Amino acid sequence: MSKITVKVCMGTTCFVMGGSNLQELIEIIPRRYGDKVDVEGSSCLEMCSVQWNYSKAPYVKVDDDIIEEATVEKVLSVIEEKLGAEK
Ligand code: FES
Repeated sequence: MSKITVKVCMGTTCFVMGGSNLQELIEIIPRRYGDKVDVEGSSCLEMCSVQWNYSKAPYVKVDDDIIEEATVEKVLSVIEEKLGAEK
């Protein structure tokens, strides 16, 4: 089974748009999923400059999927889905 990679955007736009809460993921994910999921903070994922009005920040990337307006719950449910689909 391949590993899931999660990148939590720590760029300024995401951070001020609610990304500061998402830092919790960096502690929660290893505790919950062990080595099945890699998580790291990332500098700007370049999504905020595509959508100039920043309306969908904060962003988190799970493998190649971008999660918009990310919350801890949203990210965990995407991870659950992916883990379920990989059985
Ligand atoms: S600051 Fe997060 S995508 Fe740019």
